Amino acid sequence: MSGSPTRLPAWQALQDHHRIAAGFSLRELFARDPRRFDKFSLQCGDILFDYSKHLVTDETLHLLVELAHQCELPGWIARLFTGDKVNTTEGRPALHTVLRAQEPVMLDGQNIVAEVEHMLSRMERFCEEVWSGVRCGSAGRAFSDVVNIGIGGSDLGPMFVTEALASYARPRPRLHFVSNVDGAHLAGVLQGLTPETTLFIVASKTFFTLETLANARSARAWLAAKLGADGAARHFAAVTANPAAAREFGVATDAVFEFWDWVGGRYSLWSAIGLPIALAIGMDNFNALRSGAGEMDLHFRHAPLERNIPVLAGLLGVWYIDFFGAAAHAVLPYDQRLKRLPEYLQQLEMESNGKRVRRDGAEVDYATAPVVFGAAGTNGQHAFYQLLHQGTQLIPADFIACCRSDHQLAGHHALLLANYFAQTEALALGKTTAEAEAEMRRRGMPEIRIAALLPHRVFGGNRPTTSILLPRLEPRALGALIAFYEHKTFAQSVIWGINAFDQWGVELGKQLADRLLPELEGVAPASSHDASTNGLINHFKTHR
Ligand code: F6P
Repeated sequence: MSGSPTRLPAWQALQDHHRIAAGFSLRELFARDPRRFDKFSLQCGDILFDYSKHLVTDETLHLLVELAHQCELPGWIARLFTGDKVNTTEGRPALHTVLRAQEPVMLDGQNIVAEVEHMLSRMERFCEEVWSGVRCGSAGRAFSDVVNIGIGGSDLGPMFVTEALASYARPRPRLHFVSNVDGAHLAGVLQGLTPETTLFIVASKTFFTLETLANARSARAWLAAKLGADGAARHFAAVTANPAAAREFGVATDAVFEFWDWVGGRYSLWSAIGLPIALAIGMDNFNALRSGAGEMDLHFRHAPLERNIPVLAGLLGVWYIDFFGAAAHAVLPYDQRLKRLPEYLQQLEMESNGKRVRRDGAEVDYATAPVVFGAAGTNGQHAFYQLLHQGTQLIPADFIACCRSDHQLAGHHALLLANYFAQTEALALGKTTAEAEAEMRRRGMPEIRIAALLPHRVFGGNRPTTSILLPRLEPRALGALIAFYEHKTFAQSVIWGINAFDQWGVELGKQLADRLLPELEGVAPASSHDASTNGLINHFKTHR
């Protein structure tokens, strides 16, 4: 497809269909078809995806799938997996799927799966050396703590997974994550640590990122103050696609783990960027995570579009964003261990698809990525759900939960899941005027009070949700869940005709910060910016 998808016949048919769909009632759709759940839910491995609480009928889904065909999604999926340069602006493939592939994949005449396997075996050896104490600090003491210094894709993925799978973690080493250039972050983490027993992993694809390098230099100074410069060097490992820069920083060659420019930062947790995950939960569990993702890859690659879970999720997103005008998407994990999933998906979806220019260079005339936000249930219920239920915006939401918990606290899991099921039901079905009235009457409220409260107590319903149920939060299921979101993001980028794998939008702020830094350090008042920026800088300089 080239040109705007809005010109495609399926898009136009969806626009017509939307005129009817805007009046869909989920109550009616469920009442009309008792088999709606069976029809509109799918399983990949052990994970259940229920999309029956969406404002769709067979016809809607048929038109959405037709749109995917007219956007040539099957061809794009094939191109993604076979190493075509789908990242057009950077002239690169996006081969994160190779990081969990079983079969050889050739790129420029090389079997890159073999390179991945070599990297994995180096990671395994490194982990074993750290656990056994063979690889130890300069004072001969085993590493008790590992600090990952990285930001964005070099931080969010490993941090999210390490926290999510904390119940699989070995007692040592303890993992910490530092990302923010705000010294309070690193200083806070260092407070509890001992230089002799701390290992730092500097994770940066480019080895060029200001925040990461500033934190790595400060970590090195903290080590050197106690252990000397030579001693400090033994306390570093690096993960990067720029190994020369890591060596120049002072990391020993045998502690530099390479990955490749065909792995995007926000898709990199399956590469050596996952070293903190492997150190925490072991290589077997890291491999299980990868193989869960691999299972989702096979599903995405081979399932027909109408039964393809990431494709359907992507299309449902497009349905609300482009036809109902939804500007936000909520991610609501009913599992405390997944509390960082919204944050992880913010980078994945908003950095990938927060674009206003198509692959062909033309500006879009339709909406692309929504604002992704969320929080762990049930906390979100007591913060922003009011707006989900009764606000003026339509905000589709993903509800994610596990059938089994891994704690022994009696009653909690049933309470949690009762809330999980209740929320999607309430969002879908709402509460009618008659129901609200009857409820108040049952409570014996005077008629005058009922009349006053009635408009406030009615819930419109028809708020669409996807329910995702995992059997348990184990590595394999988590891997599949993350890969599901990666592929959903890609499927949407294809519909929108944009490149999901670049991120030029983060460049401008970085460039300006570089230019500004000397001005903050100098004594002369700032005068080269707009009046607001000059005023703010000068206020800062007089008040620091
Ligand atoms: O925010 C821009 C970005 O390039 C992300 O895409 C990336 O994950 C992050 O910065 C960190 O980059 P690096 O791994 O090169 O330090």
